[in-house]
Amino acid sequence: MDLIYLDNAATTPIFPEVVDAMHQTMKKHYGNPSSVHAAGRAAKAKVESARKYIANLLGALPQEIIFTSGGTEGDNTVIQCAVHHLGIKHIISSPIEHHAVLNPLEHLAAQGLITLHMVQVLPNGLPDMDDLERLLSEIPAKKLVSLMHINNEVGTVLDVEAVGTLCHSYDALFHSDTVQSIGHFPLKLNELPIDFAVAAAHKFHGPKGVGFLYARKQTALGALLLGGTQERGMRAGTESVHNIVGMEMALRMSYETLEADTTKLKTLKKYCIQKLEHALPGTTFNGACADFDTSTHTIVNARLPMNEKKAQLLAFHLDLQGICCSKGSACQSGSVSGSHVLNTLLTKEENKLPSLRFSFSAHNTKAEIDTLVAILVAYVNS
Ligand SMILES: Cc1ncc(COP(=O)(O)O)c(C=O)c1O
Repeated sequence: MDLIYLDNAATTPIFPEVVDAMHQTMKKHYGNPSSVHAAGRAAKAKVESARKYIANLLGALPQEIIFTSGGTEGDNTVIQCAVHHLGIKHIISSPIEHHAVLNPLEHLAAQGLITLHMVQVLPNGLPDMDDLERLLSEIPAKKLVSLMHINNEVGTVLDVEAVGTLCHSYDALFHSDTVQSIGHFPLKLNELPIDFAVAAAHKFHGPKGVGFLYARKQTALGALLLGGTQERGMRAGTESVHNIVGMEMALRMSYETLEADTTKLKTLKKYCIQKLEHALPGTTFNGACADFDTSTHTIVNARLPMNEKKAQLLAFHLDLQGICCSKGSACQSGSVSGSHVLNTLLTKEENKLPSLRFSFSAHNTKAEIDTLVAILVAYVNS
């Protein structure tokens, strides 16, 4: 059975060109980039040229890009290092961040190392800016604000310009988890009031287990992983040369077709929303994901009208039919607590209906949406 892959916010299929580039790198550039001989220097050159390309693409300086193992490490590095090396004792965040942010925050708060302040979130998934300003104004000490650019569950897009400007006006550092936006949005980090951002290559058709952290030059963030002096002492460990080369290639390819892909995906998302609304009247969309101004073109998070019994088996049924997507609400996930994002944004009553996240890449087609909707309709009417 051919799979219909609609879970690109979880991970994306790797580009074949990326696999080729990685394969060549593994064969040819096996040296340790820290070695001073020719094999080491050749590997080092690959790492540094990837760094230069990524920095240039995103409007950063090469020394502001630190290679990591992915989004989780990037987020943990920013949060832990801000506390341990920058003297941050107050962090403002939101209850709908990714667990790569929420868990280290809760861990630090439980250890008594920070006071954690949660900003109120509006039903569309955006932070209440008045509440954010109130928190910023009430905390006199050094503070960090951590708010994600694009929410990975409902797709809400934060106005990082406005939030960062507000943070800086209160002398707060601003970290934005950009895992769902780098590779999908044109970001110029030097033009934005962002101090720390993170990326994961597997979200833009690159390999898993590699990413990078952007740390603005002036911030002496220090290191989470201690050991060798790789990454100018900011991240110890032998660089994963083939992964870094693969990430560079994936980013290059993603940005080469960014405009055309964005146009295609906006059309596809609109098509998906209209088809669902038409075929399954009563379908609603979580967060702001039906609003094209405040949500990403890559995510639709739909709440589907069906009875509880059907809701419980929905994800299982779709999986059997070859549809890969993510389940969102408590009644389907099998977990007692369900999605922390939907629990925050929806009322208890709304959250009784099953929610599914469909997330797209430019590989997806209208025909796949037609198949998905037909399977859903048949299931609801069965
Ligand atoms: C918004 C966001 N942040 C962080 C992560 C974690 O990234 P990684 O899987 O590379 O550790 C993810 C991955 O799902 C994500 O969507």
